[in-house]
Amino acid sequence: MPVDVILGLQWGDEGKGKIVDFLAPNYKAVARFQGGPNAGHTLKFDGQKFVLHTIPSGIFREGLLNIIGNGVVLDPITLRKEAEQLDAIGLSYKSRLLISRKAHLILPTHRLLDAASEASKGKEKIGSTLKGIGPTYMDKTGRNGLRVGDLEEPDFKSKYEKLKAKHLEFYYKVHSPLVFDLDQEEEKWFSSLSFLREFQLIDGEYYVDAMLRNGDAILAEGAQGSMLDIDFGTYPFVTSSNTLTSGVCSGLGIAPKHIREVLGITKAYCTRVGSGPFPTELHNAVGDHLRQKGFEFGSTTGRPRRCGWIDLVQLKYAIMLNGVTQLIMTKIDVLDNMNSLSYCNAYEVNGKLTEQLPYNLENSDLNAQYATHIGWPDKTEGSQSFDQLPEAAVSYINTLEAWLKVPFSMISTGPERESLIVRS
Ligand code: GDP
Ligand code: IMO
Ligand code: MG
Repeated sequence: MPVDVILGLQWGDEGKGKIVDFLAPNYKAVARFQGGPNAGHTLKFDGQKFVLHTIPSGIFREGLLNIIGNGVVLDPITLRKEAEQLDAIGLSYKSRLLISRKAHLILPTHRLLDAASEASKGKEKIGSTLKGIGPTYMDKTGRNGLRVGDLEEPDFKSKYEKLKAKHLEFYYKVHSPLVFDLDQEEEKWFSSLSFLREFQLIDGEYYVDAMLRNGDAILAEGAQGSMLDIDFGTYPFVTSSNTLTSGVCSGLGIAPKHIREVLGITKAYCTRVGSGPFPTELHNAVGDHLRQKGFEFGSTTGRPRRCGWIDLVQLKYAIMLNGVTQLIMTKIDVLDNMNSLSYCNAYEVNGKLTEQLPYNLENSDLNAQYATHIGWPDKTEGSQSFDQLPEAAVSYINTLEAWLKVPFSMISTGPERESLIVRS
C-alpha cells in the first residue's frame, strides 16, 4: 500500500492541518516527516479549535496511528503542552502516538542560540519562530545532535551536558547576552523528558516498512511550505529542513517507489510570515483586507502574516519540485465580495518576461505581472458543493487550473472540518 503526501506549496500556513485532519480516516497512520514546533497546524471541529505544533494532525481521529518521523526535530516541552490540550478533552492518544528514535531533540540552548543568532542579524534576521529549529538541524548535520533514542542510553545526561557546554561556549564567545532563564528552561525540559518517555519509541523505518508490507496506507504530513525548503526555497529566508516531497523519503525512511499521490495545497491568495522576498505582496488596503478577513496571524507566534495575490510562477515551481498530482485550494471564502482579483502569471526580471523563478528573488528589478479576474458578490463560505459556487469563483478555479495544469481536487471554503468541497 502507498504513501500519500500533503504539503504546502507556498510559504506555509496553507491549511495543511485542516486537510490532513479531514483525509486522515482514509489511512492507517499520519506521519510528520520534517520540521518541528515552528509549525502551527490549526484544526476546527465541533465548535473547538486546536493548534498542533509537533503532534500530527490525525490525532483527533480515534484509532488512527500518528508517527513523529526521524526527520522531525522535537522539543519535549512543546510536546507536553500540546498533549495537555488533548488530555483536557479526554482524548485517548498515548498508545497512538509513536516517536522515531532517530528524531533529534531541541535543547533549551538551541532556543537560546536561535534567539541570539536572530538578534545578531539585526535587519537581516530571518524572522525565525525562535523555536530552536536552525541550531538543532545544524547540530544534526554537524553530527553533534542528541536524538530521542539517546534517552534509552546510559550516558544520556553526559551527552546532554557536553552539548550544552559546547552551545554555551559558543554563545558567550560570539553573542551578546540575552535574557534567558536557562535553569528554569532546563527544569521544564527534563520534566518533559519524563513525559516523553511514556510514549512508544520506534525504529520508524522498520515500523513504516512493516505497515507498508501489511497493506496499510500512510499519509505524510508536511510542515512549512515549499518556498521555505532549505535547498529550493527563498534562501536564506527559509527553514532548515527539506519541506518538499523528497523530504518524505529521508524523513520517514521510505523508498520513493512507495509514494503515490502528492496533494499540494495553496491558498486562493498568498501569505508569508517572517522576512524574505514575496513578489506578489500587497502593501495596501487589499493586503490589509485579506489579513483581517483571512485572520492571517501566525498560529505559532501570533505575528501578522504578509498578504498578497496568488503567484502562479511560484506555484508552478513548487508543483514541479514536488511532483504534485492533485491541487487543493483553501480560503476561497476570503475572496468573497471582492470586485476583482489578480493573479501573477509571469515575472519581469531586468526588463525580460519569464515564467521561471530567478536565482535571486530579492532582485529589485523583479516585477510580478498580473492578469485580472472578475470577483463574485455572493458567498462561497461554508459551501460543500462545487455546483453551488458562484460562476466567477468556478471560473477563477478553472483559470488557475489551466495555468497550473494540475486539477484542483478539493476546495476549502472555511476553517471548519466540514467547510470543504471534494470535487468528483
Ligand atoms: P497550516 O500551518 O498549513 O496547517 O495552516 P495554519 O493552521 O497555520 O493556517 C491556516 C489558517 O486558515 C487557520 O487559521 C485555519 O483555521 C484557517 N483555514 C483553513 N482553511 C480555511 C478556509 O478554507 N477558509 C478560511 N477562512 N480559513 C481556513
Ligand atoms: P506551518 O507548518 C509559516 C518561517 C518563519 C521564518 C522562517 C524560518 O505552520 O506552515 P524557523 O523557525 O523555521 O527557523 O523560521 O520560516 N516559518 C513558517 N512560516 N508557517 C510555518 O509552518 C513556518 N515555519 C517556519 O516565519 O520566516
Ligand atoms: Mg501554520
